[in-house]
Amino acid sequence: MTKTFTIRRPDDWHLHLRDGDMLCAVLPHSASHFGRAIIMPNLVPPVVTAKDAAAYRDRILAAMPEGADFNPLMTLYLTENTDPADVAAAHADGLIHAVKLYPAGATTNSASGVANFDRVGAVLEKMAEIGLPLCTHGEVTDPEIDIFDREAVFIDRVLDPIRRSHPALRVVMEHITTQQAADYVRAAPENLAATITTHHLVINRNHILAGGIKPHYYCLPVAKRENHRLALRAAATSGDPRFFLGTDSAPHTDANKLLPCGCAGCFTAPNTLSILAEVFEQDGALDQLEAFTSLNGPAFYGLPANEAKMTLTRSPPSFPSHVDTPEGPVTVFDPAMPLHWTVT
Ligand code: NCD
Ligand code: ZN
Repeated sequence: MTKTFTIRRPDDWHLHLRDGDMLCAVLPHSASHFGRAIIMPNLVPPVVTAKDAAAYRDRILAAMPEGADFNPLMTLYLTENTDPADVAAAHADGLIHAVKLYPAGATTNSASGVANFDRVGAVLEKMAEIGLPLCTHGEVTDPEIDIFDREAVFIDRVLDPIRRSHPALRVVMEHITTQQAADYVRAAPENLAATITTHHLVINRNHILAGGIKPHYYCLPVAKRENHRLALRAAATSGDPRFFLGTDSAPHTDANKLLPCGCAGCFTAPNTLSILAEVFEQDGALDQLEAFTSLNGPAFYGLPANEAKMTLTRSPPSFPSHVDTPEGPVTVFDPAMPLHWTVT
């Protein structure tokens, strides 16, 4: 049995770092394992202009632990007022690596997102021209649509029309949760890719709802049926270059999770690599882990893979059950299975 293996240092293509005290508390958990991360812009207020992104990047760099080898890749939050020229300038400066589309009201801090997709056509056209990827939170917000169907309906109603109108646009379907999304990516040309989270490879909707409600497993898009989880595992472990890791590690304090109307998000930064090694080993695909965590993402984003390496050793990892922050404890995702791989 393999006892140790080495991969290129991973990147996280979808990460929530928050701001202020929370940023300082959670950043070390990503910076210790990842070389780069696409930083989500859903702060309050959101990161909408190049100026906002530069200021947020400075705050992240100021919070960086001593000696860290971690580069935050900034994004802008798309609104109906986003200026194509501002986006293009931020891209030309090397400041931003993607623009994030949140349908208005789809998830945490998405109130400033897009309600009328016709109003963002000029920005999308500019992005297609300059090769800047659009990252999508792929859920419709129509209250008539069942929450478990919102991703599949988004593909038909929103994403496919956008891609037909802007065929050259590079798109990353973020945190996909369904067989339909995985199939849609596979059938598309190479300018469409998808990130998959760690937790969606592990949990299905029973983990959230059976035997008592488990708020720490509640995230958006919500985990679906078991057949969808298995479809995501097949995609992640396949080596197909269009699928790569975006943890969507999304810290909320326990006080904000354990409420009558609790926040969505799973905090996986501290134990993601141990969980992924377990998942890939279970599926007999440890040899594909590096493609998923360290090679496919940079290739899609037009960046070199990290030169630095990471070694995983077959010994039980230890990680905290929660991370203390000045705002209160943040519970670390519980994979609900024994883990056997430690980052060394
Ligand atoms: C994210 C958050 O908390 O910011 N929550 C989540 O459940 N994933 C927002 C998001 O990415 O949808
Ligand atoms: Zn997210």
